[in-house]
Amino acid sequence: MIHSLQLGSLTLPTNVICAPLAGCTNLTWRRMLKRYKPGLMFCEMVKMEALIRADPNTYRILDYDNDMHPIGAQICGSNIDIAAQSAQLIEEMGFDVLDLNCGCPVDKVTKDGSGSGLLQHPEKIGEILHRMVQAVDIPVTVKIRAGWDECEINAPTIVQIAEQAGASAIAIHGRTRTQGYKGQANLDWIKACKEKASSIKVYGNGDIFDPESAARMFQETGCDAILLARGTLGKPWIIEDITRALSGLPPIQRTSDDYREILLSHLDDIESYHNDRKSLIEMRKIGCWYLKKSSGTKALREALNKASSVSSARSVIESYDWEQTSFHTEEALACC
Ligand SMILES: Cc1cc2nc3c(=O)[nH]c(=O)nc-3n(C[C@H](O)[C@H](O)[C@H](O)COP(=O)(O)O)c2cc1C
Repeated sequence: MIHSLQLGSLTLPTNVICAPLAGCTNLTWRRMLKRYKPGLMFCEMVKMEALIRADPNTYRILDYDNDMHPIGAQICGSNIDIAAQSAQLIEEMGFDVLDLNCGCPVDKVTKDGSGSGLLQHPEKIGEILHRMVQAVDIPVTVKIRAGWDECEINAPTIVQIAEQAGASAIAIHGRTRTQGYKGQANLDWIKACKEKASSIKVYGNGDIFDPESAARMFQETGCDAILLARGTLGKPWIIEDITRALSGLPPIQRTSDDYREILLSHLDDIESYHNDRKSLIEMRKIGCWYLKKSSGTKALREALNKASSVSSARSVIESYDWEQTSFHTEEALACC
């Protein structure tokens, strides 16, 4: 199941890919992901218009380290006339892959026909992709949901449109736009997409949280690659766990010390990249991710939420009694 993946002239080392997650996959988070060797990872999505007007916050979202290659950027927009220029800007920044977002369900994004709004106009997806493919040498890919709603599962048609437009791969999130994140990702829909694909690579996406669900995605859909999203939050080693398990290698036990170590190094990184105010917000966010499914961490979570600086958060983590913690329980403790 695990193998390298060819996207145009680019060879990804593995077919375990980390999805874009707005508000999550920033530079410091990607540094943690990178440790566990994803085949490809993405920055958070950026708007085409913001790229073109050189919005500094947008460019900051696209920060990456030289050792993060292969790295992908995802752009969101529905204006055909600026598709080529946006694509060129991404290529000039040194990205290895350019992805078009056709899955974002948020009203703010769909109201101008962007994100999953494009699912209602598949021919427009084809036109935007075509312009991008013509404008750049890097592989162009697209990420979609299964359709707008259950009455209109048009992902298999979009697979063919994307292939014709010259896209190298298409990621299918097995939910509709109206579903949001409710219910389970439907693997039959992803399978139907793979059956329509001829040369375009198909990534299966949705509810991959462990090696078992990763294997199910490969086996039940025949997909070429898997795309991990929420499963990586607070558990970046899921990339390595899945890669090893599906390559027949024994699992690595993750201990409380691993959580302690990654929290501390993530904090160091946050502090060196963000200002004090943003560091505090980020620290609370990542603390919540790492400690979400744990026991014996209530006092730690409370102390982190109350910490008034990253250095006080670091002291709390360093002096905490990690012996009493456990990260192997399925009990989900709501902390945020
Ligand atoms: C907080 C959050 C932010 C997301 N941001 C993006 C994004 O920027 N671009 C995108 O294509 N999908 C985005 N997604 C969708 C995910 O990439 C993925 O398709 C979805 O979460 C299903 O996969 P999962 O069940 O493995 O999480 C986001 C999802 C979440 C929960």
